[in-house]
Amino acid sequence: MKRFLLPHLICPACLPKENPLLASVSREKDGDITTGYLSCNKCKRRFPIKDGIALLVPDPDASLSGGQWRYEDPDTINRYLWSHYAELHGDDENRAANAAWADSLADKSASALDAGCSVGRVAFEMAARSGWAVGCDLSRNFVATARRLALERNLTYSLPLEGKLREVFQIKLPDDWRTDNLEFVVADALRLPFAGETFQQSASLNVLDRISYPLAHLFEMNRIACRRGASFLFASPFSWSSSEIPEELWLGGTVTGPHKGRALENVRSLLEGKGKVLSPPWQVSRSGEIPWKMRSHCNHCESFKSQMLVAVR
Ligand SMILES: C[S@@+](CC[C@H](N)C(=O)[O-])C[C@H]1O[C@@H](n2cnc3c(N)ncnc32)[C@H](O)[C@@H]1O
Repeated sequence: MKRFLLPHLICPACLPKENPLLASVSREKDGDITTGYLSCNKCKRRFPIKDGIALLVPDPDASLSGGQWRYEDPDTINRYLWSHYAELHGDDENRAANAAWADSLADKSASALDAGCSVGRVAFEMAARSGWAVGCDLSRNFVATARRLALERNLTYSLPLEGKLREVFQIKLPDDWRTDNLEFVVADALRLPFAGETFQQSASLNVLDRISYPLAHLFEMNRIACRRGASFLFASPFSWSSSEIPEELWLGGTVTGPHKGRALENVRSLLEGKGKVLSPPWQVSRSGEIPWKMRSHCNHCESFKSQMLVAVR
């Protein structure tokens, strides 16, 4: 974990109290802490840093909710690598989507967070436009993959071609992509290990309908965003499913309940101050739809359309 993150970290277990984390370093190379731990003086918890990856979750085993989480599965990682980076090896299916995410970020910000970053594409885009940027995800394998890509700038992966045949791809980061100001950590987007009002740029992309408590996630994204001079990029395909999130916690897609109707309008109202849940209120400056794809084999892709809002305050 790169040292530049240290001043911004707080104990995720102590939230809503914001207690700083102190680093004990066993191994460090060029400002990158590869082995050590972060500790909270108040609750006395320790958060390990292993192989450069900071595990900033209160209970690392509980976060995997009873075994192999689907986002830890190797082929899921490969599908996300394709979705985020395929244009770097000449497959243009998601080029327009990736450009649209990048164009929806503020041109310049001091600090940026992509919560639920998966294998990291938007965090790389943030690093190009920010003083420093961090991507966080609950999946250790996603974070390890994104971190390895940032460190080595090269990554080989494969996906099914047809049946048991596989196609191998190589990602090579363009020389002008910055990584010195970019880090990836394991963290829960419901308990972010960052002090309040840390980020001028924040993003939650395709996470709201996959996180166990969507409203608490928006509340948490609001906490870490600056009160003024902030930009929040939000998007979701709103694929609500009761196998992922109990229906009473959905922020849309129901006929009755506090969040009945369409989620996009509900999220917009919450951002604009409805019920004073998210304060100070945001103004929606842009909205739109971003189509993107996930590949399963060479003749099969799944198509998604994410509804997007850019909110500023
Ligand atoms: C549908 S994927 C979207 C990934 C990426 N933002 C994108 O648009 O390609 C949902 C992501 O949310 C992450 N996620 C789900 N619950 C989370 C939580 N509580 N904290 C952090 N990340 C979470 C998953 O690991 C996964 O990477």
